[in-house]
Amino acid sequence: MLQRPRRNRKSAAIRNLVRETSLDAGDFIYPLFVHESDEDVAIESMPGCTRWSVEGLVKEAGEAYALGVPAVVIFPAVADALKTSQADESYNANGLVPRAIKALKSAYPELCVITDVALDPYNSDGHDGLVKQREDGELEILNDETVEVLCKQAVSHAVAGADIVSPSDMMDGRVEALRCALDAAGFPDVSILSYTAKYASAYYGPFRGALDSAPKAGDKKTYQMDYANSREAVREALLDEAEGADMIMVKPAGAYLDIIAQLREATTLPISAYQVSGEYLMIKAAAAGGWVDEKAVVLESLTGIKRAGADFILSYFAKDVARWQKEG
Ligand code: PBG
Repeated sequence: MLQRPRRNRKSAAIRNLVRETSLDAGDFIYPLFVHESDEDVAIESMPGCTRWSVEGLVKEAGEAYALGVPAVVIFPAVADALKTSQADESYNANGLVPRAIKALKSAYPELCVITDVALDPYNSDGHDGLVKQREDGELEILNDETVEVLCKQAVSHAVAGADIVSPSDMMDGRVEALRCALDAAGFPDVSILSYTAKYASAYYGPFRGALDSAPKAGDKKTYQMDYANSREAVREALLDEAEGADMIMVKPAGAYLDIIAQLREATTLPISAYQVSGEYLMIKAAAAGGWVDEKAVVLESLTGIKRAGADFILSYFAKDVARWQKEG
């Protein structure tokens, strides 16, 4: 036999030499939840995750940062009393997110602070955009009106010191509108990480439980993408690139590796992927049942996401991975 592929697998040393993909703490964005309270409260729907107080958030981000995780993205749980049909709280300069940004940046100026731009945590309807009830009773998610609010939201995050704003709403034209609004407000250096191919996914269930942000009526299928489609993801990526996105995202990650690979071919922009709450929870639950080895499955799932073509990953396991690396 001339070809014996097993020769390249015969020792750990050789396997290390020929390994094509590696994970590094620096590849991760750590998603963190924050709420308006002095207490840090464990999230029932996402074991191992916490709704942090601003102080707790700073501490958790600092620990991850010290382990080599360069970036966090903040998700707010907003009190019901502050939710309105116009999502006015989403651009309150003294709101929870701006205060969290300021606290993070003053404690860790070099930490990359990313914010989610979408209306669902602030909207009494629980949708990512503004909702209009049509004559026939159907809900319409208003595109252009929503984009105007998103621009105010993004600027309020930039004013507070966000390094990157990350629109997760899937409205058309929002990347260009955000770019123009940020530039006009004097923030040409604030980046846009666009949720480019965000699918209408059942994997977001635990996240919506974590934030009490599930839609009150209807679903998100008129703005998030149909999971049966991939050419549409390429179309969205080319649009986002043309509209000025600095980085793009595929979400969820594990069931969408083909989309990551396709976008890798379609654009030169950095690509991220979001290992979402349902993916996290399935691993956590299986590990808690003793059915899989948590660390091994986490590393395999994340390596698969990178191997598919993602440059960096949003994952609730970010801090664990960084810690495992430190431990060797
Ligand atoms: C909403 C948003 C969602 C997630 C991130 N931003 C939920 C949704 O679109 O319904 C999901 C993240 C996760 O499931 O981990 N703008």
